[in-house]
Amino acid sequence: MPQQPKLDAASIERLLTIELARATERAAVAAAGLRGRGDEMAADRAAVEAMHEEFARLPVRGRIVIGEGDDETPRLFVGEEIGCPAGLHVELAVAPLEGATLCAKDQSGAIAIAAAAASGTLLHAPDIYMDKIAVGPGYPEGVVDLDRDPADNVRALAEAKGVSPGEITVCVLDRPRHAEIISKCRKAGACVRLISDGDVAGIIFVTDSAETGVDMYLGRGGAPEGVLAAAVLRCAGGQMQGRLVLESAEQRARAARHGLADPRKKYGVTDMVTGDVVVCVTGVTDGPLVDGVVFDKGGVETETLVFRSATGTIRRIGTWRRAR
Ligand code: FBP
Repeated sequence: MPQQPKLDAASIERLLTIELARATERAAVAAAGLRGRGDEMAADRAAVEAMHEEFARLPVRGRIVIGEGDDETPRLFVGEEIGCPAGLHVELAVAPLEGATLCAKDQSGAIAIAAAAASGTLLHAPDIYMDKIAVGPGYPEGVVDLDRDPADNVRALAEAKGVSPGEITVCVLDRPRHAEIISKCRKAGACVRLISDGDVAGIIFVTDSAETGVDMYLGRGGAPEGVLAAAVLRCAGGQMQGRLVLESAEQRARAARHGLADPRKKYGVTDMVTGDVVVCVTGVTDGPLVDGVVFDKGGVETETLVFRSATGTIRRIGTWRRAR
């Protein structure tokens, strides 16, 4: 019997790009089937189920470190191991439907996202809030800072970009807690783009400001979502800082269970993702970076962005699949 050549970790990582894309495509299609039905839970469940089924066929052994909660969620829960038992061990960070409300309301910006990295390289962020700031590639390190006043960040970014503050657009989640950030950015002259949900997409916007019009992301959102966004920035370039919100005893206890107890620590991209990573993003609804799922005669069309940090490659995969 001739010996089968063994795949090394680097070759497996290359192959994983298409396997992850299959999983986000399937999750996106499942969620899109429930777009605009007003039932975010059902859309989320459909996406989770579809991604889980696809992950069962992974040629690697994936451990979910960012997933569908820390508790009894039956699929893609944090700690679940999935894929080939004898395969190379990797960590998986997933949001089968990021922006479930957007999907339920058929609004722009819902995505399916999954990231894979070597074991021990993704921050195991607890399910609490994180304060976040992000800018795209090409700026000097430290051009903006979470501890600086939002208006000063707008001015610093404008200067680095060589434009006036009035030409800077800041993306912010539309929440009452962000009233001060919004008013300070506006007072500095910036345009504030409010999004109703989905801050992973909001942060990804900064990686291609020419396309999306967004220069900076600012505000408080989920910590697990922060790690997913950092994974994309690790591939596409850009800077991000995230700080866990440890205001209540409950938040501190959750963070402590993940070994993350420092209330001052600002996590940069390379703190949240310490090694190479592969990330796939498939549009569920249309957005500035990826189109949503299209159901047409006899088939379904998806668009996926595939990011690889090892080479800095960004692929755009358009897939048409016959209806089964
Ligand atoms: P879901 O997809 O789980 O609904 O999360 C959407 C989201 O908007 C995240 O992108 C964001 O980080 C978080 O919720 C914001 O939390 P909140 O809705 O509590 O402000």
